[in-house]
Amino acid sequence: MPGYELYGTEERDAVIAWFNASHGVMMAHGFDRLRQGIFKVREFERAVADTMGCAYAQAVSSGTAALFVALRALGVGPGDEVITQAFTFVATVEAILATGATPVITEVDRSLTMDPTDFERRITPRTKVVIPVHMAGAAADLETILAIAARHRVTVVEDACQAVGGAYRGKPLGSFGTMGVLSFDFAKTITTGEGGMVVTNDRTLFERARAIHDHGHEYHPERPRGQDTRSLPGFNFRLTEIQGVLGLTQLAKLPLILSRQRANKVLLKTGIADCGFEFRHLHDPEGDLADTCIFFLEERQRAAAFAAALERRGFTTKNLPGALSWHYAGTWDHLFRGISSLDHPEKRWPKTDDLLHRAIALPVNVAMSEGDLADLIAAVRDSAKDARCEEAVSVLEERR
Ligand SMILES: Cc1ncc(COP(=O)(O)O)c(C=O)c1O
Repeated sequence: MPGYELYGTEERDAVIAWFNASHGVMMAHGFDRLRQGIFKVREFERAVADTMGCAYAQAVSSGTAALFVALRALGVGPGDEVITQAFTFVATVEAILATGATPVITEVDRSLTMDPTDFERRITPRTKVVIPVHMAGAAADLETILAIAARHRVTVVEDACQAVGGAYRGKPLGSFGTMGVLSFDFAKTITTGEGGMVVTNDRTLFERARAIHDHGHEYHPERPRGQDTRSLPGFNFRLTEIQGVLGLTQLAKLPLILSRQRANKVLLKTGIADCGFEFRHLHDPEGDLADTCIFFLEERQRAAAFAAALERRGFTTKNLPGALSWHYAGTWDHLFRGISSLDHPEKRWPKTDDLLHRAIALPVNVAMSEGDLADLIAAVRDSAKDARCEEAVSVLEERR
């Protein structure tokens, strides 16, 4: 997730040019006389919509806000159920809870995305929305999930926060559902520091999302902002103009980011191909964002030993296991208190639990040199040997 790796003169020059031309008007709306017709957030929205092949895009202040705004635009609220998956960032479930709806959580499969069979099994008459999450840059099984959702009349909102730039069968991730949600936080493919986007082809949903993100404003072109109308309760999830400038500059770098990451991931996978790891299944290898290389070890003890050995060599993992607890619903008892279907401590998602505790996620960066890659490959190969030795020693000790 390397947008920050490429922050440099282009971003700085673009901000200075914008500041000089627009008198530094930060707000995305209003200030018509002062801003000289410059609307950077609106330009960024148009550019993202075009990149995604979607008719509409609404910029918001974070990916979390984008999830909340999308769900509210769809009318999700108390009494509704929203299905998502057990491996996601905590924000997906926080957004569902913030609407007053009940989260329903599925297992993931060997792609570490929503298990479609478990999704179908968990649909009830109260199910309103399903949120498949394209985790770590790779597509969920969209063909199957979209078919099940259509059969049961469940609306699809894609959480593509970790997959900006990824694709499925040649189409951008986030553009398949009724709504798609993107993040531009500090660690994402392209970054505005904090920021997010809701994309859709549905004009009514776009207008609802626009109103919800900005105190209910209906954006009447013939009315000054102070006399605008409202009919929905909203909030403030606005993006600033300076973030619009940064977003446009970063978006222009997306093709470079994708080609470098993809090339680096091929080299990394080739370098560790004979280590005996089972690589994560990819529903569309060509569309992989390629910012993460995930594989499974046979036993969770061996995965823990491997991660420790890698760390001793000065290399960290990404969310698996580095930040597992922020990405696994099995650890979120603080969110599930009082929700009868989720409020019990025993293993709720045994398949996901097993896969996640055996998984290693390596970061693949844009700015990796050949030397960096060679060092990482050597560290992975040596750590795999260490992990096997440590396991053998512990087995012998157990037998004694
Ligand atoms: C899958 C997923 N959904 C939602 C979010 C929330 O995005 P943000 O950090 O922009 O609020 C994240 C952020 O890491 C994420 O990984």
